Amino acid sequence: MDKSKKKVSKRYDSWRPFYDLIDQFPLISRPQRNWKRRAVRYLELSPEDKVLDVGTGTGQILPWIVDDMSSGKLVATDISEAMISHARNKIGNHPEIEMRVMNDDIENSVFPDDYFDKIIATFTLTTIPDFEKAVSECARILDPDGHMIILDTGKPQNKFALPLFYPMMISAKIFGRTHMDREIKKTLSDHFDVELMEENLLGMVYTLKCEV
Ligand SMILES: C[S@@+](CC[C@H](N)C(=O)[O-])C[C@H]1O[C@@H](n2cnc3c(N)ncnc32)[C@H](O)[C@@H]1O
Repeated sequence: MDKSKKKVSKRYDSWRPFYDLIDQFPLISRPQRNWKRRAVRYLELSPEDKVLDVGTGTGQILPWIVDDMSSGKLVATDISEAMISHARNKIGNHPEIEMRVMNDDIENSVFPDDYFDKIIATFTLTTIPDFEKAVSECARILDPDGHMIILDTGKPQNKFALPLFYPMMISAKIFGRTHMDREIKKTLSDHFDVELMEENLLGMVYTLKCEV
């Protein structure tokens, strides 16, 4: 693992005990949960789908994905061992669904071409050290008939939101190794057809549907 990736995985290893504590503060957690819940619905899961949650963290969205699946395969990946072990506790026992929570670096994923029918990444692309590589790997492992849902943060178009955006962006960079100023939509459009599903928080949070 290279240095920048080690720093990210260490940061999330140390954050793990506090990550789900945010759920105790409804003012912050409620909107996030709503955005994530809707992102999972946009997956439009079908029976037998193979689904990947990239950078699953503590696995917050896994129970919702499982609720929408009757069969098929669910894989959740992360590079932080502490996050992964917590995510494992979230999935419960569902014998009809094949489930795997594992350490996989999305910049160099172990999965073969066109493997997944659906991919989801919530607040992950802004944290991955080489996110361009991650996006091209997602395009490689996504079935051409499938789609990928991205929920993330970015610079808003609305100039009145900028005084709110810049302090958030700087603190996210310093404390969270999260890069809200990344041109994620532009990079995605080099590999996918990208459709904007919704914008929230004055355009600082967005959900995209991507097709190869
Ligand atoms: C902000 S957290 C989001 C977690 C979760 N998706 C959520 O919405 O709560 C970003 C996660 O991406 C993971 N991550 C960062 N780089 C990664 C990579 N190259 N491959 C896989 N996961 C990665 C981090 O370890 C972290 O758990």
